[in-house]
Amino acid sequence: MTNRYDEAYARSLQDPEGFWGEAADDIHWYKRWDKVFDDSNAPFYRWFAGGMVNTCFNALDRHVDEGRGDQAALIYDSPVTGNTVKTFTYRELRDQVARFAGVLRGLGVVAGDRVVIYMPMVPEAIVAMLATARLGAVHSVVFGGFAAAELAGRIDDAQPRVVVSASCGIEVNRVIAYKPLLDGAIELSRHKPEACVILQRPQEKAALIAGRDHDWDAVMATAQPADCVPVAATDPLYILYTSGTTGTPKGVVHDNGGHMVALKWSMRNIYDVEPGDVYWAASDVGWVVGHSYIVYGPLLHGCTTILYEGKPVGTPDASAFWRIISEHGVNVLFTAPTAFRAIKREDPDAEMMGRFDLSHFKMLFLAGERTDPDTLAWAESNLGKPVIDHWWQTETAWAIAANCMGLHPFPVKPGSPTKAVPGWDVHVVDAENKEVAPGTIGAIVVKLPLPPGALPTLWNADDRFVESYLTEFPGYYKTADAGYIDGDGYVYVMARTDDIINVAGHRLSTGAIEEVLAAHADVAECAVIGVADSIKGQVPIGLLVLKTGVERSHEEIVAEAVGMVRERIGPVAAFRQAGVVEGLPKTRSGKILRGTMQKIADVEDHKVPPTIDDATVLDGIEQALTSLGYAGARP
Ligand code: COA
Ligand code: AMP
Repeated sequence: MTNRYDEAYARSLQDPEGFWGEAADDIHWYKRWDKVFDDSNAPFYRWFAGGMVNTCFNALDRHVDEGRGDQAALIYDSPVTGNTVKTFTYRELRDQVARFAGVLRGLGVVAGDRVVIYMPMVPEAIVAMLATARLGAVHSVVFGGFAAAELAGRIDDAQPRVVVSASCGIEVNRVIAYKPLLDGAIELSRHKPEACVILQRPQEKAALIAGRDHDWDAVMATAQPADCVPVAATDPLYILYTSGTTGTPKGVVHDNGGHMVALKWSMRNIYDVEPGDVYWAASDVGWVVGHSYIVYGPLLHGCTTILYEGKPVGTPDASAFWRIISEHGVNVLFTAPTAFRAIKREDPDAEMMGRFDLSHFKMLFLAGERTDPDTLAWAESNLGKPVIDHWWQTETAWAIAANCMGLHPFPVKPGSPTKAVPGWDVHVVDAENKEVAPGTIGAIVVKLPLPPGALPTLWNADDRFVESYLTEFPGYYKTADAGYIDGDGYVYVMARTDDIINVAGHRLSTGAIEEVLAAHADVAECAVIGVADSIKGQVPIGLLVLKTGVERSHEEIVAEAVGMVRERIGPVAAFRQAGVVEGLPKTRSGKILRGTMQKIADVEDHKVPPTIDDATVLDGIEQALTSLGYAGARP
């Protein structure tokens, strides 16, 4: 017997043009497309070629025009600034955005220009994103936890005309000055933006550089509102940099037309929300979840979105999420499992949850990392509502596999994000690109073309796009995740096949951390592995082999190495521990056996070393990891 999911899934693959063409009717077009799907320049497939749109118009103006002007578009809730709560109606947000678009236009920004946004979780970050989209320009948001050098790399790649930033961000117990990081980044970068707009926050005022820096309030006070600029559906909306296998991040591009169609479709069909509902993605605008489900998805669908400047715990305690759900009538919450693990550790019996009225709350969605069965069971039993794991990537902008709650809810199988979402032709293959039997682990790939919303390419790097995603498995997109599909079509995502690790739902390249460690004067070689952590899922650990003759204290060298990673990549790397070892285990061809070391750290079975020398090296690794609290040292 078929259901709405089966029908939608089959149609999305058999008649993609019909399926997505219909979904596109939910979007306002200045000019409808010539072709729903354009494969004339394969493998650079394009959706809605010939169409003209504006994403900001669809996110704001159309709702005002259609009668939602007085509905809350955005609720800013900030426990870190003394419990500030500020609501913006669709009309107010539209007006702010139009005015800031006027500011950007006054600074010379035109369609196609890039605007880098390096901001904490304040409404002005969303205003800046939407204002950039309003002009048909391209935003690139950089997460606040990245260091100056990472920001500099992104400025050099995106070449923004303008950078929008703030004087500071606020973490649980400290104010982080952003402006010195921005100034440092611009000093390091070869490309110099023409102007910066700085939001001065009361917690820390920044010194402005005359001629380059503009005070947000001052320029907003005199700006004239700017109207939406129609752009091609295939023009880029944003670039979001994400970890690649080298230290150079990939500039993932998402376009305007296909991205809007897919996100709008996902709101009803995956998340089962209606216009007017309150949707909260507890993430950060610096990540793809923030782009898709703090900003674009909910606003395109006419929902109220929540912008939360705080943490799941510590601001002030593990009741923060329940307070927000009850105070703002949240219907759907989306966050990473790590947030729930942090809450569970502080309030194991969920006593704090019981103090709040969660009657509006319908569902919890989790992503960013695999939802472990313990966290799933805890959330399900305490919330008494569906808890839905779903799997996606910066590259895809929306879910590849999910339980599509608006189409047909399936029984949840712990450890699985359920089934491939309509549009995604998901397969599991072996190294020869041959489909494996159900239940067999292999590389998870998606048959081309990818649906609307997924990346059409990497910024200024078409070759890298093809090489990274389309070459290893011809005809397919390589997700770089390994896993299996069971006999019922449930997908299981088990591990990355590259050197990416997942730390508190953040994606980090161990290769990039190794590049920093290798630059330490005393380090001859090094490896970084992701070891299991009960809250963050994984944390990076460094193993350092020192140059011959180095006799300095190991503690000192490790402290310097930790400092270098924080300085070069940023606090987000959560790199706190390293051990000094005599050697690293390698294959005959010299490849470092990171997987073996990770298994030792996590006390999993690993292969017996073939030679006594190898065994000595592994003993050294085990000792180092034990002294750091891993490899069985933990209770
Ligand atoms: N600006 C500056 N620094 C930041 C930052 C920002 N926007 N965000 C995080 N940091 C810093 C933190 O203060 C911390 O610094 P520290 O090493 O001095 O303590 C470091 O970066 C690591 O941050 P994080 O990994 O977030 O760890 P945490 O211990 O502060 O919090 C959790 C742990 C689980 C509570 C937190 O990761 C969390 O809320 N996760 C929610 C899930 C999420 O947002 N996932 C994103 C994808 S959905
Ligand atoms: P990011 O691009 O930062 O969103 O990270 C994407 C990666 O996170 C994926 O390739 C997976 O490795 C992992 N991931 C995200 N969501 C899930 C999930 N629900 N289950 C398993 N892994 C996930």
